[in-house]
Amino acid sequence: MEYITYEHNAEAAGVISRFYETPPLAYVHSYGCQQNVNDGERIKGVLVDIGYGLCDKPEDADLILFNTCAVREHAEQRVFGNVGALKGLKEKKPGLMIGLCGCMANQKHVVEKLRQSYPYVDLVFGVDGIDTLPELIVRKLEKHKRILLEPAQRPVIVENLPIRRESEFRAWLPIMYGCDNFCTYCIVPYVRGREKSRRPADILAEFRGLVEAGYKEITLLGQNVNSYGKGLEESIDFADLLNLLCSVPGDYHIRFMTSHPKDASRKLIDTIAAQPHLCKHLHLPVQCGSDRLLAKMNRHYTVEHYLDLIEYARARVPGITFSSDIIVGFPGETEEDFQGTLDLVRKVGYMQLFTFIYSKREGTPAATYPDDTPRQEKTDRMARLLAVQDEIAMGLVKAQVGQTVRVLVEGYGRLEGTLSGRLDNNLTVEFAAEDSLMGQYAMVHLTGARATVLLGEWVQ
Ligand code: SAH
Ligand code: SF4
Ligand code: F3S
Repeated sequence: MEYITYEHNAEAAGVISRFYETPPLAYVHSYGCQQNVNDGERIKGVLVDIGYGLCDKPEDADLILFNTCAVREHAEQRVFGNVGALKGLKEKKPGLMIGLCGCMANQKHVVEKLRQSYPYVDLVFGVDGIDTLPELIVRKLEKHKRILLEPAQRPVIVENLPIRRESEFRAWLPIMYGCDNFCTYCIVPYVRGREKSRRPADILAEFRGLVEAGYKEITLLGQNVNSYGKGLEESIDFADLLNLLCSVPGDYHIRFMTSHPKDASRKLIDTIAAQPHLCKHLHLPVQCGSDRLLAKMNRHYTVEHYLDLIEYARARVPGITFSSDIIVGFPGETEEDFQGTLDLVRKVGYMQLFTFIYSKREGTPAATYPDDTPRQEKTDRMARLLAVQDEIAMGLVKAQVGQTVRVLVEGYGRLEGTLSGRLDNNLTVEFAAEDSLMGQYAMVHLTGARATVLLGEWVQ
């Protein structure tokens, strides 16, 4: 593993400024998880660094880049649909450059499909290639040939990529890249490559910069943050890293995702209990509530282990809330397996659940497992799961009413004149207040709830 530092490419900036009469505009759209959104922010940073302006509409752009997600079939179909819709734009504007990057671009069959069926796509590069974008653009401008890079993994971490963050008060901060877990349904390890951790000093420097710039919420990112530190020179684990970051003075809070139940440690939970900067919320994807299926998924924990962890967290961190991801309809899921999932969901009492119907990913082990549950049965199970979860969440949300809490104001509410804020436990509350509170902490008295959104009054 090599650590390299991004450097401004003056030559590329020169070529681009000579090529275009006025500064060219780029439209960058990211799909998928926060990791990908953060990559998109860095792609924008690199483009600005070499002289591009950014625009919000594809029609205004000289460069359109889709930063894609491959986690489910639906995500891929959407991207192909959106790329297809650009054909007309390219005909009207032949100089338009269209590019595709991110997780889909790290699949051979996708690159092949783009080569064969989407001749107007000029540029394809994978998740590890953000720092190479300036030279790719220059090559395209000078040689006029399509550049469709074959998927390859680069054992490097590039530090100091410029960044254009979407928010001025909430920031994503990757602490590691890739995944080594190979859950049998999941494409991520194939497209994102092997796990690699950033050095603590680099993370700390970026973190400090964010706090100094006034960021209030910093979310640490990794596919399995609890295995942070593997392969680093110094001996450090995720809880140590949290303690290191929390030593930075300032008014901010930290979230992190994702924790894998096989690696989430009691030390981590003790750290959440001890550090006021850490939110009292844990996203701990369980995927399903059947030991038989958890083994087939290659998850390396049992329902009992998972529930023990939840119980420990509840005892150590009063008021802690949980969220999870669930896959419904994994190959071979029986009604009994599914009942196990419902049972577990009831036992834990999640504040939020992200639910997915299993999607077959070519190249993963589960794609070869027999899957004879009819689609209708899967959608039916999904509806039953959502009904159970809705009731649980509404109960938990109502139980919050009456408290006065500190929230980070992060957007507008649904009613005119209201703002929306997020509690430490990840719930949202809407309340009437002045716009100037945006991005600030506010004290709110919780007065009621509409479905799973709290309603409140701003306490000055
Ligand atoms: N590394 C994280 C998140 C990975 S992707 C973790 O382990 O939790 C986010 C979620 O997408 C996963 O938790 C899983 O619930 C879901 N997912 C991944 N592959 C899927 C597939 N093939 N079909 C349906 N859902 C999937
Ligand atoms: Fe996919 Fe499993 Fe890795 Fe998460 S931990 S990214 S679900 S392989
Ligand atoms: Fe999708 Fe890649 Fe994230 S596949 S979920 S964008 S890691």
